[in-house]
Amino acid sequence: MPPFIVAIFLLSLSSLASAANFTHVFEWNDLEFEWPSEESRTKALEDGTYKPEIIYPRYMAVYGSRIFLSLKKNDGVPVSLVSFPTSSATSAPPKLTPFPSLDIHLNESEKCNMINRAEGLQVDSVGRLWVLDWGNSLFNCSAKLWIVNLNNNETELIHQFSFTGQMHDLVIDETPNGTFAYIARWSDVNIVVFSLERNESWIVDTPGVEVLSIAMSPKVERRQLYLGELYSDELYSISVAALRNGTRTANPEFIGKWTGTPYRMLVDNHGTLFAAILSENYASSWNTSQPFKEQRFHEVAELDYVWSFTFALDQNGTLWMTEFDKAKTPKLRIVKESLECSGSCPKNGTA
Ligand SMILES: *[C@@H]1O[C@H](CO)[C@@H](O)[C@H](O)[C@H]1NC(C)=O
Ligand SMILES: *[C@@H]1O[C@H](CO)[C@@H](O)[C@H](O)[C@H]1NC(C)=O
Ligand SMILES: *[C@@H]1O[C@H](CO)[C@@H](O)[C@H](O)[C@H]1NC(C)=O
Ligand SMILES: *[C@@H]1O[C@H](CO)[C@@H](O)[C@H](O)[C@H]1NC(C)=O
Ligand SMILES: *[C@@H]1O[C@H](CO)[C@@H](O)[C@H](O)[C@H]1NC(C)=O
Ligand SMILES: *[C@@H]1O[C@H](CO)[C@@H](O)[C@H](O)[C@H]1NC(C)=O
Ligand SMILES: *[C@@H]1O[C@H](CO)[C@@H](O)[C@H](O)[C@H]1NC(C)=O
Ligand SMILES: *[C@@H]1O[C@H](CO)[C@@H](O)[C@H](O)[C@H]1NC(C)=O
Ligand SMILES: *[C@@H]1O[C@H](CO)[C@@H](O)[C@H](O)[C@H]1NC(C)=O
Repeated sequence: MPPFIVAIFLLSLSSLASAANFTHVFEWNDLEFEWPSEESRTKALEDGTYKPEIIYPRYMAVYGSRIFLSLKKNDGVPVSLVSFPTSSATSAPPKLTPFPSLDIHLNESEKCNMINRAEGLQVDSVGRLWVLDWGNSLFNCSAKLWIVNLNNNETELIHQFSFTGQMHDLVIDETPNGTFAYIARWSDVNIVVFSLERNESWIVDTPGVEVLSIAMSPKVERRQLYLGELYSDELYSISVAALRNGTRTANPEFIGKWTGTPYRMLVDNHGTLFAAILSENYASSWNTSQPFKEQRFHEVAELDYVWSFTFALDQNGTLWMTEFDKAKTPKLRIVKESLECSGSCPKNGTA
């Protein structure tokens, strides 16, 4: 190893000394969908509609005993939303089960009624999976929000947006006065607000900030939205009170600069903001109760991919994370770590 690499290695080891210890859950060399029959799989492989070697994970959600992943909608990846169990009796990694059903991804006769391209995923407090869907500009199918009840796998609501494409990520704001979603598209100078009770959505301008990533602080009162910019290291915040109130313009406040562009962020119940950085092999965090300061909380030396990590919190305070590199073996690993420390945690959430 050249000396400077040794130095970087030692540096990252020391910066990781206080970082969480992740448990390995699954590892895949080959990702495979669960097909209804071997014939259907063979046919899809032969006609080129199925290329398992280009299945890449994008976003994750965890609920009960199941993990949900959205997948990059490459040509040859007919299904962009799958699920599999959080544990398995065998050491073999599970197959990816199309969710909520294979048909809802393959309904060629009803292009605008299928899940075209799932992106951001969240589970709400009553066990419903919220799924952002790009729609399909080729067929003029609008972007959608699907809400699927995970207790019976029934689709409860399909909201159609006034636009097509460019969906990225969302957070869910459940208040005594109603439930809202705040949605980040790709580098638009706005976010989209959705009201569940009204089944309505509207655009809120964020002057000066091309929003990419989005996260939300835990306390319902004084709740903050955190916004990361595309191709920028800058982090901003806005108060959600005005968003709930129907404002059409929210002026973001500058918070600080990361070491890169975060593409996925989340805040845990203790007010720690986690951020996965584009094209880097580390993910960072910031304790939002303190002035902005980036800390690396996870680093995987051998990863070299634009979108290596995605993460999700389950309802028990465990952080689940993917580690992905299409050129590596294993290609995909799922790891987890409980964020509910014994004794050393602050008594109250702090954000
Ligand atoms: C991680 O594991 C190491 C070795 O087992 C231990 O020394 C360290 O305290 C652990 N860190 C945390 C945050 O649990
Ligand atoms: C969270 O805890 C509950 C109760 O112990 C359990 O039923 C559930 O499966 C857990 N969720 C996850 C994702 O582990
Ligand atoms: C395709 O969608 C139409 C309209 O929603 C529905 O009637 C039909 O059963 C669907 N086909 C499949 C295979 O799901
Ligand atoms: C796409 O749909 C919108 C809204 O329904 C409609 O106004 C527009 O004319 C459609 N465009 C095309 C090319 O069909
Ligand atoms: C919901 O779908 C998952 C994944 O396809 C399946 O494992 C589970 O049994 C289904 N649950 C119900 C209640 O149908
Ligand atoms: C919600 O709004 C969409 C349009 O975005 C509409 O198609 C759907 O029927 C509405 N659902 C309910 C339950 O009102
Ligand atoms: C709910 O609405 C009431 C009355 O408008 C307001 O006082 C309260 O702050 C709102 N709560 C939240 C969490 O927005
Ligand atoms: C929300 O709107 C109500 C009524 O228009 C107003 O009284 C209240 O001050 C507003 N709250 C915020 C946080 O803007
Ligand atoms: C975050 O900072 C606050 C205030 O300094 C502190 O009390 C809390 O323990 C910190 N949280 C973590 C997870 O370190």
